[in-house]
Amino acid sequence: VGAAAANAQHLRERFVQRLLALQPRSVLDVGCGAGAVLGLCRAAGVPALGIEADPAVLRAPRAAGLRVVQARAQALPCADRAFDWVVLRHVAHHLRDVGEALEEAARVCARGLLLAEPWYDETIPSQELAARADRWAKAQDRRHGRVHDENLGPRELLALLPAAWRERAEVERYVCLRAQSWQEFRAENADLFEGLAEDDEALAQARALEADCRGRGMTVNGTVIVTVWRP
Ligand SMILES: C[S@@+](CC[C@H](N)C(=O)[O-])C[C@H]1O[C@@H](n2cnc3c(N)ncnc32)[C@H](O)[C@@H]1O
Repeated sequence: VGAAAANAQHLRERFVQRLLALQPRSVLDVGCGAGAVLGLCRAAGVPALGIEADPAVLRAPRAAGLRVVQARAQALPCADRAFDWVVLRHVAHHLRDVGEALEEAARVCARGLLLAEPWYDETIPSQELAARADRWAKAQDRRHGRVHDENLGPRELLALLPAAWRERAEVERYVCLRAQSWQEFRAENADLFEGLAEDDEALAQARALEADCRGRGMTVNGTVIVTVWRP
C-alpha cells in the first residue's frame, strides 16, 4: 500500500471515530463513493444509507451489500430529519452548488451534520508544496470538464449554514506528515499527465513542483472535520 492510500484509510478511520463518538442512531452518507464509511458504520452496528450521484461508483458498495441509492446531494430523496447524523466527507469541493447540498443535509438530519474536507497545514513547507500539487491536479481535472474546486475550509462551510447552526460547531484538524514521493503523485494522477504536450504550461508547472519535491519533500493531505449540531 502506498503512502497516499494508507493515509486515506487512516483519515477515513479518524472520521468514523469522530462519527461514532456522537453515538449516531442512523447515518446518511452523502457522496458515499466506494462506501468505506458505510462499511465502518455497518461494522459498528450503526444503520447507514449512502447517496451517490455516479452510478458506476455505486457498483462496488452494492456488491458489498451496503445500502446505497443513486441521487444528487442537492435533492436528497429523504424526509425531513430522517437520519440522526448526515455526513459529507470530502465531497463539498466536488459540488457546483455546495450551499444547496448543505441546505438539503440540514433538512434531513435530526441531530446534526458531520462535514470533512481535505486540508493542508500550509505553515509546513512539505504541506505547502502538497497543497500546490493538489491545486495543480485539480486545475488539470477541470480542463477535463470535471468539477474539482479548491477545498473548502470550516469558515466557508459554516458560512453556508444559517447563523444559529454556526454557533454550535466544533472544528478538528488532522495532519499526518507521511512523505509522498513525486513518483507516487505522478502514478496516482497518471491520467492528468497523459497527453500533455511538451509546450503545455501545465507540464512546466509540474516540473517545477517535482523540483521542489526533490528539494523539500512533499507530505500527504490531512483533513478538517466540522461537527455541527442542529440548533
Ligand atoms: C472524493 S469522493 C469521496 C467519497 C467518500 N465520501 C469518501 O470519503 O471516501 C467524492 C464523491 O462524491 C460524489 N459526488 C459528486 N457530486 C455529487 C453529487 N452532486 N451528489 C452526490 N454525490 C456526488 C462523487 O461521485 C464521489 O464518489
